[in-house]
Amino acid sequence: MTPLIIAIDGPSGAGKGTLARRLAQALGYRHVDTGAMYRAVAWKALQEGLALDNEPALAALAERASFGQADGIITIDGHDVSRAIRTPEMDQSAARVARLASVRAVLVARQRGMGEGGGVVMEGRDIGTVVFPCADVKIYLDASAEERARRRAGDAAHTGGRQASVDRLKSQMAARDESDATRTVAPLQMAADAVYVDTTGLDAEQVFERVLGLVQDRGRSSIGD
Ligand code: DC
Repeated sequence: MTPLIIAIDGPSGAGKGTLARRLAQALGYRHVDTGAMYRAVAWKALQEGLALDNEPALAALAERASFGQADGIITIDGHDVSRAIRTPEMDQSAARVARLASVRAVLVARQRGMGEGGGVVMEGRDIGTVVFPCADVKIYLDASAEERARRRAGDAAHTGGRQASVDRLKSQMAARDESDATRTVAPLQMAADAVYVDTTGLDAEQVFERVLGLVQDRGRSSIGD
């Protein structure tokens, strides 16, 4: 099977990370979590004392930074930020950084560089619409707001081990999804040719099996393309 570009988009808590990791592992592909790149830029900007609306400085930072993602470890300029970028504060900061057009332009170019040879599972909000509009497989992963908040509440990395109320998480996630979906540059939206997968009530294995089936169908048909 020729190495494919697999794009996975959708709102927070839909299960993109779990699915992308599992697929990449099964196919021997590279997994790129583009949300982690926006988060890492926000983290580094705060470390350097930059204001999160200083667009030229943040774009320059994104341009010169070295990003690492391997075995679940996220680094920026050699710092392991895997845990530091997953706090509720960083949820807010990353969403602000993701609204900046010039930061997006830099990161999109870098993401294209990471995936251009194929053999990649890339997850984010704009992969099937902007980064790789010609991706071989496009999945739009979704789940009910209630279920997404419940999953987040069970994710200790995001709650800092504190007991988080599902209702509070639900309203925070709704605010962030609203910000992602209504921003002027690359808003979260489903590509016209994406396959919509509703994961409400499904476990990770069921989602994986379903999407792996789609990937295998695409791989078989690409042999005859
Ligand atoms: O997937 P995530 O929650 O880690 O993403 C962090 C933020 O970055 C979130 O506000 C959505 C945004 N994002 C984006 O705008 N485009 C992407 N390709 C990935 C994430």
